[in-house]
Amino acid sequence: MSQILISEEALHWKEVAHQVAEEVVRPIAKEYDERQEYPDEVRQAFAEKGLLGVWIPKEYGGHGAGIVALCLVIEELSRACGGVGVAYAVNALGSFPILVGGTEEQKKLWLAEVASGEKMIAFCLSEKFAGSDAGGMRCEARLEGDEYVINGEKKWTTNGGIATLHTVFAVTDRNSKSRRISGIVVEKGTPGFTVEKVEDKMGIRAVPVVETHFNNVRVPVGNLLGGRPGMGFKHAMQTLDYARPGVAAQGIGLAQGALEYAVTYALRRKQFGQNLASMGVIQDMLGRMAAKVEAGRSLVLRAASAVDAGDKAVVNRLAAMAKSFSTDIAMEVTTDAVQIFGGYGYMKDYPVEKYMRDAKITQIYEGTNQIQRMVIARNLMKEAQSFSHLADYIPVETYEGYDSEPVD
Ligand code: CAA
Repeated sequence: MSQILISEEALHWKEVAHQVAEEVVRPIAKEYDERQEYPDEVRQAFAEKGLLGVWIPKEYGGHGAGIVALCLVIEELSRACGGVGVAYAVNALGSFPILVGGTEEQKKLWLAEVASGEKMIAFCLSEKFAGSDAGGMRCEARLEGDEYVINGEKKWTTNGGIATLHTVFAVTDRNSKSRRISGIVVEKGTPGFTVEKVEDKMGIRAVPVVETHFNNVRVPVGNLLGGRPGMGFKHAMQTLDYARPGVAAQGIGLAQGALEYAVTYALRRKQFGQNLASMGVIQDMLGRMAAKVEAGRSLVLRAASAVDAGDKAVVNRLAAMAKSFSTDIAMEVTTDAVQIFGGYGYMKDYPVEKYMRDAKITQIYEGTNQIQRMVIARNLMKEAQSFSHLADYIPVETYEGYDSEPVD
């Protein structure tokens, strides 16, 4: 079983991210939430500080610090602003299909461009009629000579309009069941590729989420990930296994950030002649909030360490556990932080309502938490054989001899 492993390098990147979060992100978080705009200074800081190369292996131009480091960076950024946290994390999401499925040549080209901050990248999987059922997508890529011609629409493209590169999943073989979908890289500016709708969101407002449309978009066949069609669904699923610990880290960052504001306020706000922090009811809330954050963080680090160790047997379930558990915690803790601020917490002048709004989406995107628990349950059922002897201890009368016909 892989252990939690936090390298010196990962701690270094956490520190770099902390500085960026406090010096660049926190002071402008409210303003960009209101304006619903991507802060240019944040994009520059990501590139200048080398943060976009954290998870990319050294041989492809990155720092090779791994997924634990990525999660620590995401947590620090999200602690200051959930929108900026995902604006950063989505570059990892967009680049993972290249990392897990690209050819050496593709990795050397595109990952190096992402690592240097020269190009941002987005992930185009979901569609209007294919959300949880990612495999039900309709966007199609048809091979014509040495080009793929892409037609269709993608929904919820985070970083869309900002990103230069897009990993797009499209149907390349309608008649195949398990080899239907392929991943293809599409560059911004390719004729026929447009951003049609910028969503007006409840939270994570510093990062654009858009619809991307493909109208006879022609890309060279060399942009097909891995050079072999039909591997796209697997690559997308592996990508989500790598990326979900990062969403979990976003949840933990939001929870930690809201908790810190709640403590700061509770130490200052006075009612009944004493500050809130000295009241038992508030201490009970703060204690529960802090314990939840710590539990979620442990699970994030466990899942991320399993990805770094290549522990394939457990990555799928741990990523799903970390994602669902930590983002549910994010919702609970940020809601409690608003509660501790009382009526003021509900107001936009105060910082905590934004944490609550930013937290909500983490329970939904990169697979709803209901899908995560389905993934966990499927894993449990797969391993049930290893403890099937337990059936010997359960009286058989409740399940043997069951007749599906109702008894009159
Ligand atoms: N790794 C590798 N392969 C995998 C895999 C994994 N984790 N999970 C499934 N597969 C393979 C299976 O082995 C199977 O392969 P074969 O056909 O060769 O047997 C194939 O994929 C199909 O698997 P399933 O039958 O399990 O597929 P399914 O249709 O039942 O779907 C699902 C599974 C887990 C529900 C999946 O569709 C899913 O994760 N849905 C949620 C989608 C999602 O997370 N979307 C978020 C988009 S990103 C986003 O939100 C963007 C943003 O803005 C941040």
